[in-house]
Amino acid sequence: MRIFSGIQPTGRKHLGNYIGAITQYVAGQHRGEAIYCVVDLHATTVAYEPDILRESVYDTAATLLGAGLEPDRCIFFRQSDVHEHTELTWLLSSVTAFGDLNRMTQFKDKSSAQRELVSAGLFFYPVLMAADVLAYRAQEVPVGEDQRQHLELMRDIAERFNARFGQTLVVPEARIPEVGARIMDLQFPDRKMSTTGGSPQGTVYVLDEPPAVSKKIRSAVTDSGTEVVRAPDKAGISNLIEILAAVRGTAPEEIEREFDGEGYGAFKQAVADAVVTYLSPVRERYAQLRADEPKLEQVLEEGAAKAREVASGTLADVREAMGVGPVRPRQ
Ligand code: TYM
Repeated sequence: MRIFSGIQPTGRKHLGNYIGAITQYVAGQHRGEAIYCVVDLHATTVAYEPDILRESVYDTAATLLGAGLEPDRCIFFRQSDVHEHTELTWLLSSVTAFGDLNRMTQFKDKSSAQRELVSAGLFFYPVLMAADVLAYRAQEVPVGEDQRQHLELMRDIAERFNARFGQTLVVPEARIPEVGARIMDLQFPDRKMSTTGGSPQGTVYVLDEPPAVSKKIRSAVTDSGTEVVRAPDKAGISNLIEILAAVRGTAPEEIEREFDGEGYGAFKQAVADAVVTYLSPVRERYAQLRADEPKLEQVLEEGAAKAREVASGTLADVREAMGVGPVRPRQ
């Protein structure tokens, strides 16, 4: 089983990223051949500062390593170090429908939020994402719910490529967790928790100090009822139930049973304590790892060398299938 996923470089990974994706990356190392990258090229599709981007790659790398990625058990690298991703993006664009890109909800949301230039890169974002995964012929892609549409598009791209040029690429499956695939903002529980679109008080960051984590959870917006159960008109409580279930690795029903008759105050305190205990070790390991930039750089470079070995094989096959470049000599 080959597993691939990517994560944007921002210094501020939040609880949604952690529960929806990062814990799955760590688990993936023990289930198969796991390949993960920090997608710095995707980060250039919206307004950004070059110096901050470079730093953010290290921040994200230290967060993931702090969360438990082990460079001996997975391939972990920076996207821009492996040029095959950008070449494959171009080659895949020939089997990507303009109309499909136009329908991407993330493009619509992000382009309407841009105050300056809406870059062509933002429009092409999903093709680069398809190239990330298809370059490794990955079977499985662990992601949160918000990436479902991008995953469907990349499956279409792979299928269209194979139909047009012959069986070359693997059609990947999304792996979206049953619990925690869409963690919501604590202040606006009808919106997903997000670095760009969320509220500061409603977003728990992985690197927040324990008192801040605790305060944000205890001040989460809830309804005027008292019952700890999931319901469509109880978005805030439903979100906290989901968070606690994910952190404990149990089912939401278990949480409802445990807190039956307890009231919101005790429940919120329990969620706050559980999340503090969950994130604290990551924050502590992060501090040590982040302090050693040369070491982080070395990990990423070694990862890129391993990634390149896999991706270059796929690229050679894709070029050959498409009639791009000279005929490959027979071996
Ligand atoms: P990014 O960096 O925005 O998010 C990283 C992962 O976190 C998940 N996530 C969430 N999960 C649960 N609740 C939330 N509120 C929440 N917010 C974010 C995302 O679903 C994601 O899995 N386009 C991707 C990066 C990417 C990629 C790839 C992913 C680039 N190439 C190839 C998979 C495969 C993104 O922006 O993720």
